[in-house]
Amino acid sequence: MTTPASSPTSLPIVEARNVTVRFGSFTALNDVSFSIPESPKGEFIAIIGPSGCGKSTLLNLLAGFNRPTSGELLVKGSPIDGPGRERGMIFQQYSSFPHLTVFQNVMFGLKINRVELGLDRAACKERAAELIRQVGLEAHRDKYPHQLSGGQQQRVAIARSLAMEPRILLLDEPFSALDEPTRLEMQELLVELWYRTHPTIFCVTHSVSEAVYLGVRVWIFTQAPGQIAYDIRDAIPPTVGVPPLVAQESAEFKEAVFVVTEAFRRVSSGKLAEMNLNSKISDPQVKP
Ligand SMILES: Nc1ncnc2c1ncn2[C@@H]1O[C@H](COP(=O)(O)OP(=O)(O)OP(=O)(O)O)[C@@H](O)[C@H]1O
Ligand SMILES: [Mg+2]
Repeated sequence: MTTPASSPTSLPIVEARNVTVRFGSFTALNDVSFSIPESPKGEFIAIIGPSGCGKSTLLNLLAGFNRPTSGELLVKGSPIDGPGRERGMIFQQYSSFPHLTVFQNVMFGLKINRVELGLDRAACKERAAELIRQVGLEAHRDKYPHQLSGGQQQRVAIARSLAMEPRILLLDEPFSALDEPTRLEMQELLVELWYRTHPTIFCVTHSVSEAVYLGVRVWIFTQAPGQIAYDIRDAIPPTVGVPPLVAQESAEFKEAVFVVTEAFRRVSSGKLAEMNLNSKISDPQVKP
């Protein structure tokens, strides 16, 4: 899948300028720079890298939960100075309110942001019902989180986030607590929702095949202090509308898994030498 062209004058949807994060004397992220152009289709960036390399740290910065020690993070040219409705975050652990039903959970943010979203009460209810339908929870709308499976709880989290119509969606290992069949279902749902609502997505995962299935591009981080070692785009096949088990059978998918695995192996062994896998990997510098 190619990255859609953006107008030369539009500001990047997300930009990192020389971002460094230190915790005491430990450097978690070191001089990270990238620029993601605004695009009508939204970008889907899957992020993998060794444990402790700063992936969650980057997502927390983008969510506005934390600040860089130096450098800048911008959304549409404005520095991120805290959480915002245009950025939704979904964690590995289900984060719904335990005392609210599925419907009430999805309604929660809508009610708070009703005026900003320009919705009256009836429109909020309609939107919540529609999102619950889209994530396949119609039959469960009056259940509480403890009455739902892990996959169903992640569906609630996705519906809650999408209700705010975020332009940027941040997912930190969202499916890693799920069993394999449920994880595959959720991967397919996420790609479908991304394609329909086109936010820019940053999704951290530990699985190469999940990264290849989900992402339009795959970033591979170096070991801490984290930097983006590889930005793999051309090798990643489009998967919209194709179930993961079917996609995984194609020659392009297998080739992409090989390319990403090889890059990851080099990162893990500290060998960041130039790769020459038929030029399928772009420069380490992440530019639009
Ligand atoms: N609040 C903190 N205080 C001190 N060190 C921290 C803090 N948050 C993260 N770190 C350290 O920064 C490094 C990067 O952490 P981060 O959680 O971003 O890693 P990660 O790439 O998400 O790893 P994993 O794949 O295991 O989730 C780790 O070594 C971690 O111990
Ligand atoms: Mg993490």
